[in-house]
Amino acid sequence: MNADDMKREAARAALDYIGDGGIIGVGTGSTVNHFIDLLAEVKHKIDGTVSSSEASTERLKAHGIEVMDLNSVAGLEVYIDGADESNRQLHLIKGGGGALTREKIIAGASKKFVCIADESKLVDVMGEFPLPVEVIPMARSYIARELVKLGGRPVWRDGFVTDNGNCILDVHDLKIMEPVKLETQLNALAGVVTVGIFGHRPADVLLLGSPNGVRVVNP
Ligand code: 5RP
Repeated sequence: MNADDMKREAARAALDYIGDGGIIGVGTGSTVNHFIDLLAEVKHKIDGTVSSSEASTERLKAHGIEVMDLNSVAGLEVYIDGADESNRQLHLIKGGGGALTREKIIAGASKKFVCIADESKLVDVMGEFPLPVEVIPMARSYIARELVKLGGRPVWRDGFVTDNGNCILDVHDLKIMEPVKLETQLNALAGVVTVGIFGHRPADVLLLGSPNGVRVVNP
């Protein structure tokens, strides 16, 4: 079983969390793409979705699944999304696909956040995966200098523009021992739109695909 098979099995396990009826929050990435394809088979069970990216919206619509504006719904029961890394408290690094801002908004608006991933994503200490930080374009160099002061090595994701018209700095060489504290610290820098640490709003459950089946990890 390869990583993609494990992602698909985690995505399949997430179908147990969608309940009957209601509007589902949908994340972004290759694991979520499996979820969207599987959701298409049971789309009659849900009332619609709220999507975290143009890419997921396009895929959902191609399957005939309704995509709604978050402003038009009262709240979401469940949000399904992947992650680049998770620690055992289910703090996450997200944003490898660049959709971190909308992902964080939807995670915040959802009662339950179900994270789906292959087993390689669970780590003891986050930071091996470069931390994505979405910044307002005019603040890019300033924020990069601030990130260097904090011990990071920011690399501009050159040529990439987020769905919100901003840029991404991927911060290498961090050992994130205190995710919530670092998230707060980076959020306080003027020009930072979103930090890819999901510490204040971690996942509620992590479904980890492995060769032995899907493991359910609770914080
Ligand atoms: C996108 C994300 C994704 O959830 C994350 O990058 C994981 O992606 P994949 O499922 O392709 O491994 O945060 O912004």
